[in-house]
Amino acid sequence: PAVGIVIVAAGSGTRLGHPEPKAFVVVGGRSLLERALEASFSLSEPASIVVVAPASHRAGAEEIAMRVAGAARDSVRVVVGGATRQQSVGAGLAALPEGTREVLIHDAARALQPVAVFERVVARIRADGVGVVPALPVVDTIARRAADDRVVEPVDRADLAVVQTPQGFPFPLYRAALASAAADHTDDMGVHRAAGQPVVVVEGDARGFKITTPWDLRRAEQLLGAERP
Ligand code: CTP
Ligand code: MG
Repeated sequence: PAVGIVIVAAGSGTRLGHPEPKAFVVVGGRSLLERALEASFSLSEPASIVVVAPASHRAGAEEIAMRVAGAARDSVRVVVGGATRQQSVGAGLAALPEGTREVLIHDAARALQPVAVFERVVARIRADGVGVVPALPVVDTIARRAADDRVVEPVDRADLAVVQTPQGFPFPLYRAALASAAADHTDDMGVHRAAGQPVVVVEGDARGFKITTPWDLRRAEQLLGAERP
């Protein structure tokens, strides 16, 4: 397949505070990983999918991946992640087929991101050969504050965007960017930009929020409850 999707699911979910790793936490009857996989398998074209799992949950991730894949089980692989998200992304990229043209990197924690956003990202990479991130406008007022709590300066929110995943890139360019990157990037857009590569935004979706805190999990539960007939 032309498209490769890396689902990073190797984090522990410290801020969520559940005993199991965050991707294995269940919301509305299905784990976050299962939901992220369902979106990935719903893409309108076949994709090579790599799940990056915690070492402790490799078997569990494989079981979930095979169940969601059904007859397409050959298109999904599970690998073990690293201590940082960036290392987990590296492990996922290494497992993609050589001929991959576009890579999407997606947080399992953004379990409710609709597949339409994945499609938009792929289409824009193909159209322009650039890095692409889904984003939403900032609705709150943003202030830059100092250590002593004083507001240093107001920030014009028209210049800002809230960035989500999946973040997508031409695969060879992103692989090179990651290979030469410093070790402290918290997302893939930052890696691509640090290599001097252009990145553009496309429209994200409010449902693509990252499930980080217990409050986020409640919000996801409520959204899913509201969707039931
Ligand atoms: N992730 C990963 N490997 C890591 C750290 C994070 O694959 N070493 C993944 C997480 O599983 C998640 C995504 O990156 O899907 C975004 O990270 P975050 O929301 O910060 O998840 P955690 O790191 O698990 O949560 P926390 O920071 O609260 O511990
Ligand atoms: Mg984290």
